[in-house]
Amino acid sequence: MTPVLQAQNVSKIYDMGTSKIEALKGVNIGINKGEFVAIVGKSGSGKSTLMHILGLLDTPTEGEIILNGVNTKGMSEKQLAAVRNSEIGFVFQTFNLLQRTTVLDNVILPLKYSDVPSTEWVRKAKEMIELVGLQDRLKNKSNELSGGQKQRVAIARAMINDPSIILADEPTGNLDSKTGDEIVNNFLRLNSRGKTIILVTHDNDLAQIAQRRIVLKDGSIVE
Ligand SMILES: Nc1ncnc2c1ncn2[C@@H]1O[C@H](COP(=O)(O)OP(=O)(O)O)[C@@H](O)[C@H]1O
Ligand SMILES: [Mg+2]
Repeated sequence: MTPVLQAQNVSKIYDMGTSKIEALKGVNIGINKGEFVAIVGKSGSGKSTLMHILGLLDTPTEGEIILNGVNTKGMSEKQLAAVRNSEIGFVFQTFNLLQRTTVLDNVILPLKYSDVPSTEWVRKAKEMIELVGLQDRLKNKSNELSGGQKQRVAIARAMINDPSIILADEPTGNLDSKTGDEIVNNFLRLNSRGKTIILVTHDNDLAQIAQRRIVLKDGSIVE
């Protein structure tokens, strides 16, 4: 079976002029379709760097990322943006929603950069919003929502283009534990529907729900 996402010998060096930070040191990962993987490690171990590189938001200094069997090395920024928009759904700790914009419009946003005809946008967005149980908040602006509700909107938005993979970086980091559990249940539900989920967290308890844990330490996989 071809993995849905592979990192081959990925290194990342941040060049700070006078000093260099080696954030990733030759990381190899293969993630299969339908897997729920947690990437764990202490703060500063390279989790977010790896997540950005796996999600094609940043390029490695060395090594390559292979998505659905296609090597992304050498793709133009425009090609990468297109692949990201169709194949990867992102969920961030800080939600990254448009403020003063409705739930519906936040979820519709990625469709504007897709091939989906505009006549389908509202129907598709409502379907995703229902999936996360926010159908009675369609017209609310995102700044009128609780943290947990905001994260559910972010999950609906991440799902809207039916991506191969959901990448979540500390998605419960700004939430209380009960709300965090609720968000995790949303990911479990998506995974049971066949979505591949990569959950980045420094929380070992949270990582227990994953089928597999990848432990990073100082930029290397140690487990
Ligand atoms: N944009 C950046 N410029 C310079 N150094 C960075 C940058 N992003 C992260 N780093 C450094 O890379 C290392 C790994 O950071 P990060 O990937 O954010 O770790 P984590 O998400 O596990 O906390 C840290 O030493 C951090 O300071
Ligand atoms: Mg981080």
